[in-house]
Amino acid sequence: MVEIKIRPANLKDLPELEKIEKNSFTYPYPKSLLKTLMLIRFGVFLVAVVEEKIVGYISSICETKNTATIASIAVHPTYRGKNIAKKLLKTLLEVLKRKNISEVRLEVRKSNLLAQNLYKSFGFKTVYTLKSYYEDGEDAVVMHLSLKNS
Ligand SMILES: CC(C)(COP(=O)(O)OP(=O)(O)OC[C@H]1O[C@@H](n2cnc3c(N)ncnc32)[C@H](O)[C@@H]1OP(=O)(O)O)[C@@H](O)C(=O)NCCC(=O)NCCS
Repeated sequence: MVEIKIRPANLKDLPELEKIEKNSFTYPYPKSLLKTLMLIRFGVFLVAVVEEKIVGYISSICETKNTATIASIAVHPTYRGKNIAKKLLKTLLEVLKRKNISEVRLEVRKSNLLAQNLYKSFGFKTVYTLKSYYEDGEDAVVMHLSLKNS
């Protein structure tokens, strides 16, 4: 079994993160946005490293003292199905709990059942749908997780 290390991202990771992004989304975030998410004062940006290679990331922003939004999560296609996303999400939730975040929200494409199942396995619940939220007209599903008493 491969060892997956999770650590905070740094600017040197940006070229690898851009590759993962382009391989993961139809409308990838540009490098400038990934950089902003990494540097924003109230952000948490973690990367997954396997044998010294960046293979995935998760990014969140604390929007108020108690609430955070997950901006994005992606794993390089070659490394999917190896529990890397689960480890990234688990570690992020631990970091957010330590920051006294009690409510986490995210948006996910309605068709992205794989990601929705991943979130549900951590206790996220679907709360509502945003019609035509994405550039191509697809709806977003909004999911919430309460970290109180967890
Ligand atoms: C969603 C994504 C991050 C999951 O990453 P991953 O590292 O492959 O996920 P994990 O290996 O940790 O698996 C998590 C769960 O996803 C599901 N899953 C993962 N790979 C799967 C596959 N090939 N087939 C079916 N289900 C799969 C399983 O439910 C798994 O849980 P289980 O092992 O308990 O059954 C990855 O597919 C990805 O980068 N997708 C493109 C970007 C994206 O859609 N991001 C989400 C935006 S909201």
